[in-house]
Amino acid sequence: MINRVSMKQFISVRDIGDLKAAVDEAMEMKKDRFKYVELGRNKTLLMIFFNSSLRTRLSTQKAAYNLGMNVIVLDINQGAWKLETERGVVMDGDKPEHLLEAIPVMGCYCDIIGVRSFARFESRDYDYNETILNQFIRYSGKPVFSMEAATRHPLQSFADLITIEEYKTKPRPKVVMTWAPHPRPLPQAVPNSFAEWMNATDYEFVITHPRGYELDPRFVGDAKVEYDQMKAFEGADFIYAKNWAAYMGDNYGQILSRDRSWTVDSRQMSVTNNAYFMHCLPVRRNMIVADEVIEGPRSIVIPEAANREISATVVLKRLLEGLKG
Ligand code: CP
Repeated sequence: MINRVSMKQFISVRDIGDLKAAVDEAMEMKKDRFKYVELGRNKTLLMIFFNSSLRTRLSTQKAAYNLGMNVIVLDINQGAWKLETERGVVMDGDKPEHLLEAIPVMGCYCDIIGVRSFARFESRDYDYNETILNQFIRYSGKPVFSMEAATRHPLQSFADLITIEEYKTKPRPKVVMTWAPHPRPLPQAVPNSFAEWMNATDYEFVITHPRGYELDPRFVGDAKVEYDQMKAFEGADFIYAKNWAAYMGDNYGQILSRDRSWTVDSRQMSVTNNAYFMHCLPVRRNMIVADEVIEGPRSIVIPEAANREISATVVLKRLLEGLKG
């Protein structure tokens, strides 16, 4: 028997409540993803993208259709007015509309709002205060969920958890999140969020990265940090690869290493417990992961991406149930 949970927002692991109940609900949803198709009748989801997306856009839209919702998608940088986001600015530049008017207007046309807004790497405080996402929460008047914000990507992490639960062969698998090189500086949202969700489980969770790539300690929590990647991989059941730019101090948003010895290939995978390979995608082949690993029999990146539809369906269902109360 599943204990039904409603939600008013979904921006972090805290909003999902009991993880076991959430995973059970996801498994139930997977058996019949149209079971709640009446729940979203005459309800409208507005998806706001400040940044590009393939998986989040498609899976969240599909999830909304599973629940019978109408969907509006707005790409802020394609077809909308350019938006000023700073308060107090004299708006004599190229941005004709302020977010503080745009957000409540957007709220007029929908019942639930999803927002994708990445870290900008101009200011760590601006990014880590989740300035854009919090303005939507404050001014839209509607339940808001993150479709990847500056510091977290909870829809991805929920799908990752569902995937691990499906593939694990022991109650407490060893899950290793590894940094890997990338030609561009990437936000910490995915690794932060993955760490936050893994720390909420009872898995053995290890983070490995070159020195200088320490994540915000609030996300690292009690995870073990191992700077020797080969040592970290020993006996692992799941390898979760991701690049991120530096978080600490004046190096915030910088690339500190391009060391291709951190690229996940058969050398590292050989010391694991025949680990499954995971990545949120998109992935740069032969930077993050070698062809032979991502194409190999233990790569579960496609089922992981498929579970994005399931995590989004559960989250939207709970947000729809939250509209009632
Ligand atoms: N993993 C993920 O969020 O993919 P997109 O950036 O394509 O949405």
